[in-house]
Amino acid sequence: MIEVRRLSKSYGSFQAVKDISFEVAAGEVVGFLGPNGAGKSTTLRILAGFLGPTSGEVRVAGFSITDQPLEARENIGYMPETSPLYPEMRTDEYLRYRAELKGVKGNKRRAAVEEAMRDAGLDGMERVLIGQLSKGYRQRVGLADAIVASPKLLILDEPTAGLDPNQIREVRDLIARLREKHTVLVSTHILSEVEAMCTRGIVIARGELVAEGTIDELRALRRADGVRARIRGDADSAVSIIAAIPGVASAEATDENGHVLVSFEDGADSDEIAEKITALLVAAQIGVLELVPRSSLEQVFAELTRGEPS
Ligand SMILES: Nc1ncnc2c1ncn2[C@@H]1O[C@H](COP(=O)(O)OP(=O)(O)O)[C@@H](O)[C@H]1O
Ligand SMILES: [Mg+2]
Repeated sequence: MIEVRRLSKSYGSFQAVKDISFEVAAGEVVGFLGPNGAGKSTTLRILAGFLGPTSGEVRVAGFSITDQPLEARENIGYMPETSPLYPEMRTDEYLRYRAELKGVKGNKRRAAVEEAMRDAGLDGMERVLIGQLSKGYRQRVGLADAIVASPKLLILDEPTAGLDPNQIREVRDLIARLREKHTVLVSTHILSEVEAMCTRGIVIARGELVAEGTIDELRALRRADGVRARIRGDADSAVSIIAAIPGVASAEATDENGHVLVSFEDGADSDEIAEKITALLVAAQIGVLELVPRSSLEQVFAELTRGEPS
């Protein structure tokens, strides 16, 4: 449904998206996960055809967004970070107007708006002025707008941002229902949200794609694949003692005084290695002040918000 090849985007001399490639298959609900400033909105705007790429290629439903932009956009329902809604319009008027803009034929428009409102959880809100809706309901109008022309693909940019925990749960439930009719790419900076709504996650940080996989695969990446040891004593001796422990792939002293970074081999028993590190260093009269688990994505995951438990 989506094919992104070597996509880059620069704003002046600043490169916001750096050579990223990924695919989303029909029927998937993919989380586009990254800390603030990672380049999520930039990428989604390019996919939705609102921003041109600096280089690279994007296809949606088989159509190139640069060479066949109209055909590509017909297949996309896009909900931007902040929906440009009209406060003085009534909800159903606004959605009928949006449906018309998206080419939904006159005789089908009323039914399309009714269905979109039902699917977005807006029953009973038809005659309410958009300006009088709560933030949670305005998000739903944004969702209804995205689905009103029945696109195959939904691109949702942080649909739960700024909502309270109850509203967040409601929007997540809505998205879970939308997957029956649409392929979904949804961005978030909240780790637990991807686990709650998605079948797969793509992680970006500082414009680069740093990981992708099923929810289980992302969980495994988050798990420690090494430790950071803070020691008191001779760092070189500590490094050679640790490097000789079975299951240790590498050990190196960092610039930071007294810190040694240790990586484990795949499948190594991390508890057993941690115990050996402590025992052997202490026996060599090197103090072990701290042993902190680390993963290759440690920093990225630390920058993400974990979100409230759901
Ligand atoms: N129009 C713009 N001009 C210059 N820099 C921008 C513009 N839009 C975004 N950026 C910068 O690009 C980076 C990525 O932004 P964005 O795609 O909005 O990230 P995210 O949605 O992941 O928070 C940020 O450093 C941001 O400041
Ligand atoms: Mg954003």
